[in-house]
Amino acid sequence: MKFGYFDDRNREYVITQPDTPLPWINYLGCQAYFGIISNTAGGYSFYRDARLRRITRYRYNNVPLDFGGRYIYLRDEESKQFWSPSWQPTRNDLKNYACRHGMGYTTIGSEYSGIEARTRYFVPLDENLEIWQLTVTNRRAARAHISAFASIEFCLWDAQDDATNFQRNFNTGQVEVEDGVIYHKTEYRERRDHFAWFACSEPGAGFDTQREAFLGRNRGWDRPATVEAGQLTNSIAHGWSPIGAHQVKIDLAPGETRQIVFALGYHENPKDQKFDPPGSQIINKKLVKPVIAKYLDASQADAAFERLRRYWDGLLGIFQVDTPDIHTNRMVNIWNAYQCMATFNMSRSASFYESGIGRGLGFRDSNQDLLGFVHMAPKRARERILDLAATQLPTGGAYHQYQPLTKRGNNDIGGGFNDDPHWLIVGVSAYLKETGDWSILDEPVPYDNEPGSEAPLYNHLQRSFRYTLERLGPHGLPLIGRADWNDCLNLNCFSDTPGQSFQTTTNKDGKVAESVFIAGLFVHAGRELAAIATHRGLNAEAASYRSEAAKMESVILEHGWDGEWFLRAYDDFGAKIGSKECEEGKIFIESNGFCVLAGIGLEDGKAAKAMEATRKHLATEHGIVVQQPAYSRYYLNLGEISSYPPGYKENAGIFCHVNPWIMIAETRLGHGDLAHDYYTRINPSAREEISDLHRCEPYVYAQMIAGKDAPSFGEAKNSWLTGTAAWNYYAIVQWILGVRASLDGLEIAPVIPKSWPGFTATRIFRGVTYKIAIERKGEGNRIALTMDGAPIEGNVVPPPTDGRKEVSIKGILS
Ligand code: BGC
Ligand code: NOJ
Repeated sequence: MKFGYFDDRNREYVITQPDTPLPWINYLGCQAYFGIISNTAGGYSFYRDARLRRITRYRYNNVPLDFGGRYIYLRDEESKQFWSPSWQPTRNDLKNYACRHGMGYTTIGSEYSGIEARTRYFVPLDENLEIWQLTVTNRRAARAHISAFASIEFCLWDAQDDATNFQRNFNTGQVEVEDGVIYHKTEYRERRDHFAWFACSEPGAGFDTQREAFLGRNRGWDRPATVEAGQLTNSIAHGWSPIGAHQVKIDLAPGETRQIVFALGYHENPKDQKFDPPGSQIINKKLVKPVIAKYLDASQADAAFERLRRYWDGLLGIFQVDTPDIHTNRMVNIWNAYQCMATFNMSRSASFYESGIGRGLGFRDSNQDLLGFVHMAPKRARERILDLAATQLPTGGAYHQYQPLTKRGNNDIGGGFNDDPHWLIVGVSAYLKETGDWSILDEPVPYDNEPGSEAPLYNHLQRSFRYTLERLGPHGLPLIGRADWNDCLNLNCFSDTPGQSFQTTTNKDGKVAESVFIAGLFVHAGRELAAIATHRGLNAEAASYRSEAAKMESVILEHGWDGEWFLRAYDDFGAKIGSKECEEGKIFIESNGFCVLAGIGLEDGKAAKAMEATRKHLATEHGIVVQQPAYSRYYLNLGEISSYPPGYKENAGIFCHVNPWIMIAETRLGHGDLAHDYYTRINPSAREEISDLHRCEPYVYAQMIAGKDAPSFGEAKNSWLTGTAAWNYYAIVQWILGVRASLDGLEIAPVIPKSWPGFTATRIFRGVTYKIAIERKGEGNRIALTMDGAPIEGNVVPPPTDGRKEVSIKGILS
């Protein structure tokens, strides 16, 4: 069953039924001002940091009821009926409801009692505000007298405090209303230099800023007393819960259309110019007023929307493909790339599953995210890399997360996840391959943000690598620390106290438990670092990385091989995890995927065996599960992985983040059919027809699909903010389609299904447009390439040296 359809030409997903299984969301904003918006206008907005600069309020964990939003109500002055064109919060029976989620904007509209209304929500580029363009059309034969109400509920900035500290919060709220603009200024009197504003393009028929005045006593957002009565009360909030509500009266002849612009924004004043007149308590509005005036002009709003469209055309235009598979095309060309930008912007902080309060930017997460967005935003990737590296500790280890606003490592979570440092090498390597910007390696970057500790970025990579060499366990494999990629494999935790954090509790000295996954990652990162060193002319250093990687490879083959697959780890007792000897958790996806991805066992048949075992024991029709058999009870020595019931999350769920490791591993074995088959099993577009089972948005990946041990096998959760976005994009584009950035040029090595006659693609790479046409002449993966008709040796296309800005690449597969 479907709840909408893809409109690929417009790069939109059109939801035609408001009561989707879960709120189906989109993101507004792509620079500093952001919002989340659901298909029924739920969601919230914030400036830079979802926790520390929250602008509007949202009520968590009552999904599928999604409360707190950008709500518009219409009221017919004659019949006194009122409704919300976005369905929520009034939930009337609407005609022609449609929510179009597009690239950085969402339009929600419907018809009710002959009145058509549509609102386009978006954030203009380079501005800290959002626009709601409401278009109302009278489809009746008679004149219509309508009141339109637009409303938001302000959050008191710190979203954590807002949700907990009522004894204080109910006394701090303050607003000003001037020239019809509502200014939310809670705490502006003291240390905040910022405020929010909410404005309307039309002369208002009333406003409200106190929630209780707007809603009426004991009422919810579904039936505000003022909307029911048809008149706002011009309330001024003192304490309690400041909101913003505007009322506009519209008179429409039959067939007539009117547009109203509402705008909500964030503004920071210079510290010494906060008040006007100086010494007063009145917000100085001189700097913000021109911005407000500009965007209340509908033509300016339209122009801003066009700019936003062109921005996305530009980003998505960097790689476009045409294959025989619609789901591949749609995800690669539109939605997967778009999701990669969202994970770049948000890391794991703000979605419907991430409250925006709990987590900052993850060190490992953000480095991996680079794989998916670096080609679209190289300058911002550079900045992100330098920010991440600045949170690295002098030991080479890393804070697990940092807050985007302060850019400092998050002490609450700390560090000690022993895979973390290697992801910096992976991220930097992806950046170098894409951009060829070697200067980044010479950038001075501090450790732990400590002034005076600056060292070239390259030095950080060296320390990352050394970090593992200094932390080897009894078998010579890397010690796992708090956990590796699998945050829930807590082998040093041994927690038996309810509620204790698995992320920060340690009851063991950490000198025994080892990770085969980190070992595979170390081999991979070591070879990437060796290639970087070679490029810098550091041949001896490169050789030492290669030899350490080779040494680790033999340790893996000796102590990390279980006979038919790669082991997962050794626990604190030195016992095997992910072995046929185990009662549960006999085989895991991560070590098998990453070791093969790193090229381990390709020569002696172990890689092929590991992939066969993965297929046999872990693959399901909905994707590949983390491990089998699932843990049936809590194991003190394993930690959080066994706190989930079987089939969920890390306990044998289908973790869509790691499925691409298997896809890439299969391409390394030359198995295009298998790789693409795995790709399709979790491709959200390919799952659209089973939306009633899948339940999450069919246009973006979810972190997890319930595994075969779960009663809800096939049901997705945690959509949007997941490493799944980057890794799937990377797997399909760079390994299956095989169009990949390398240090020496654009490499082309497709491993596609046998049934595909080929594909065409356009890739803009280091300023040159490559028009690529791949044609299949035989069933294998051997490729013969030509550039503008001239044969190329090997499969790396050297950058044209004669100034050509567009070249045509033909590849014959046989
Ligand atoms: C989740 C992990 C997540 C970790 C860190 C765990 O509860 O299962 O997926 O990485 O929390 O927040
Ligand atoms: C989600 C976390 O963000 C990521 O860092 C981790 O690797 C996976 N969960 C697996 O635990």
